[in-house]
Amino acid sequence: MAKYNRIAPLYDLLSAEHPVYGAGRRGLARLLDLQSGDQVLDIGCGTGLNFPWLSERVTSTGTVIGIDRSATMLAQARRRAQRNGWTNVILIQADATGLEPADISARTISAGGRALSDAALATYSLSLMGAWPCAWQSMWNLTTPRARLGILDMQKPHGAAAVFSPLAQLACRLGGSDINAHPWTALERDCAEVNSASARGGHLQVRVGSKPPAT
Ligand SMILES: C[S@@+](CC[C@H](N)C(=O)[O-])C[C@H]1O[C@@H](n2cnc3c(N)ncnc32)[C@H](O)[C@@H]1O
Repeated sequence: MAKYNRIAPLYDLLSAEHPVYGAGRRGLARLLDLQSGDQVLDIGCGTGLNFPWLSERVTSTGTVIGIDRSATMLAQARRRAQRNGWTNVILIQADATGLEPADISARTISAGGRALSDAALATYSLSLMGAWPCAWQSMWNLTTPRARLGILDMQKPHGAAAVFSPLAQLACRLGGSDINAHPWTALERDCAEVNSASARGGHLQVRVGSKPPAT
């Protein structure tokens, strides 16, 4: 956490969003199928780089909930929301691997949201969390039946792009991510109607699926 607390003011500059990582975000935005009025949960939201497209999709009648354990990343996210006049963004500082669903639901309700979200996503965040299966379980527990869940994360590039593997591994090491974590495998295991996308030679992996109705 100390790393992200330190780099928060520079995160957007250092994150290689435009040349590399924005491509995965756009892929996820295409697949997640958010609707006006939805409540969406962004796990490890960081400085809120997802908020522009999340806010656009859920509109002012929906809600964006961002959870992150770094206070300074959340401060950047709060500034982004204020700058853009998004009054429907709720930010919660918490460790996503140890969330108490009842506590998060209560905090969400007291901030004007609903107990459970219609969709949840985690972008470039689960692979940073050693205990990411616990964070995945929280995405599950904090969403409605039939909710859409999305994961965008990284692996080693393949095919001709394998030549960039050392660069990708360095970027992950600097960011604190485990390039071999492959957290989308949990989504593939648990969700129905799974759709996939990838970008940057397979380095960026996107999965979106739906929770089965009766879970
Ligand atoms: C690489 S940044 C990604 C931020 C954002 N999702 C994005 O797409 O730009 C990873 C974020 O995960 C957060 N994070 C790491 N471990 C976490 C945990 N256990 N609980 C909550 N947030 C965590 C960090 O503070 C950081 O903001």
